[in-house]
Amino acid sequence: MNWALPKRRAAAPPSNGHIIQMRAIRKVYDTGKIQVEALRGIDFEVCRGEFVAVVGPSGSGKSTLLNLLGCLDTPSGGDYLLGGEPVAGLDKDRLADVRNRRVGFVFQNFNLLPQLTALENVEMPMLFGGIGRKERRRRAVEGLEKVGLGDRIDHRPTELSGGQMQRVAIARALAMEPDILLADEPTGNLDTSSGTDVLSLLEELWNQGSTLIVVTHDTAMARRANRVIEIRDGLVVDDQRTSTARDSAASSDGTAN
Ligand SMILES: Nc1ncnc2c1ncn2[C@@H]1O[C@H](COP(=O)(O)OP(=O)(O)OP(=O)(O)O)[C@@H](O)[C@H]1O
Ligand SMILES: [Mg+2]
Repeated sequence: MNWALPKRRAAAPPSNGHIIQMRAIRKVYDTGKIQVEALRGIDFEVCRGEFVAVVGPSGSGKSTLLNLLGCLDTPSGGDYLLGGEPVAGLDKDRLADVRNRRVGFVFQNFNLLPQLTALENVEMPMLFGGIGRKERRRRAVEGLEKVGLGDRIDHRPTELSGGQMQRVAIARALAMEPDILLADEPTGNLDTSSGTDVLSLLEELWNQGSTLIVVTHDTAMARRANRVIEIRDGLVVDDQRTSTARDSAASSDGTAN
C-alpha cells in the first residue's frame, strides 16, 4: 500500500524569527587611565531578513555595537544570542569560529589584502573555513560575478576603483553564506555614484533575503532600510520601522515581530 506521508517542511526558523537578540549589553573600554562606557545597556532584536540602519552622532557607540554584533569583540555585560547561540561569554577562538560561520563584515576602508587579487581576497574566509581549493575558487568566481566584477577577478586592489573594492569586500563578506551581513559606513569613503552602486547592491542582497545591519551617516542608505535605530551616548534612543519597509521580513517566514 502506498501511504501518503505528510509533507516534510524545511527546517523551521527559531519560533520568534530572531537572528539577533541582545539584552542589557554593556561595553566598557578600559584604557588604563580612563574607562569609557561606550554602550550602557542595549536591548536589540533583529528578525531574519531585516535591513537595519544604525545612525547616531560620532562617538555614540555605533561601531562598538557593530563589532559586538559581529563577534569581533566581547561585551562587558549582558546577553547576546546570535542565531539562538549564546556568544557573549565565548573565548577568542570560539568567537572567531562563530564569526566565520555566521557573520560577513564590510568596512569603510574595504580592508582588502593589497598583495592578493580580487579572487584571492574573496577566497580568504573560505580558506579559514576549511573549504577545499576547487570549491573556494568556484564560489569566489560566482561571488564576484554576483557583484558585477566577473571581469576583474585577477585585479589587485590598487587596480580597482573604490566602489569596485567595496564590491569585492561585499563578495568576500558573503563567501561563507553568513546569517548576517554587517557594514560599518560602507559608502563612507566612496563618491556619490560609487556609493549609490554599493547601496543598490546591498538592497539587492536584501531583496534576495539577506539580513543587513548597516552603520551609516548616509541619509539615502537610512531611507532604503526598513528599520532605523538611533544610538546616543551608548543607548538606543529611537527604533523606527520606516514607510519604505518591505512587508516585514519576518512575515516571510511566518512569524510576527
Ligand atoms: N578601542 C577603544 N578604546 C577606548 N575607547 C574606545 C575604543 N573604541 C571606541 N572607544 C570610545 O567609545 C565610544 C564609542 O565609540 P564608537 O567608535 O563606537 O563610536 P561611533 O558611534 O562609531 O562613532 P563614529 O561615528 O565617529 O564612527 C567613543 O567615546 C570612543 O572614544
Ligand atoms: Mg564608528
